[in-house]
Amino acid sequence: MQIRPALEADWPSIWPFFTTIVDSGDSYAYPLDLDLASARELWMERPQGRTTVAVDDEGVVIGSATMGPNRPGRGAHVATASFMVDPAVRRAGVGRALGVEMISWAREAGYRAIQFNAVVETNTAAVALWRDLGFEIVGTVPEAFDHATRGLVGLHVMHKRLV
Ligand SMILES: CC(C)(COP(=O)(O)OP(=O)(O)OC[C@H]1O[C@@H](n2cnc3c(N)ncnc32)[C@H](O)[C@@H]1OP(=O)(O)O)[C@@H](O)C(=O)NCCC(=O)NCCS
Repeated sequence: MQIRPALEADWPSIWPFFTTIVDSGDSYAYPLDLDLASARELWMERPQGRTTVAVDDEGVVIGSATMGPNRPGRGAHVATASFMVDPAVRRAGVGRALGVEMISWAREAGYRAIQFNAVVETNTAAVALWRDLGFEIVGTVPEAFDHATRGLVGLHVMHKRLV
């Protein structure tokens, strides 16, 4: 597996698992009616940040991350990111590799911390992974996410200092 910057040509390979993940309704509060073009704007257009892909040995895109400043201006010293791994290759280390690479990028880019704004509290895999990579839950917004099968659940704000 390799992590590299995403190219525009990668988007058609990201879209199938992007839409599967968003439609499953258990991890992302994105608009419900995203089509291929509007989803691309959300995931690929990051002028001050970047989007990465994880590719397997045959060059197939199996995961992606998008990252950049969490806030503009006076909040721009804190980074944020989003991650998606193809459900066909879960629990094989792809999410961890994307996360580790994102933390290195943020550190090298001079960010002081990373903040994940909306980690669904029932998203066991994500919460475990981010804790393992040194993130702490600094708070949980109650009932902020309308989970497709579990109803209203909380959103964790997760934070990691880099300096
Ligand atoms: C969260 C996500 C990115 C993890 O990607 P992944 O490639 O499956 O994760 P990894 O194989 O790298 O696992 C890393 C660690 O996460 C945790 N983890 C992963 N899947 C897990 C599961 N099903 N149950 C419990 N812990 C899990 C473990 O701590 C694991 O480490 P270990 O395998 O050494 O025990 C992936 O599940 C995903 O894309 N989910 C949908 C979108 C999403 O939730 N994005 C994050 C939003 S904050």
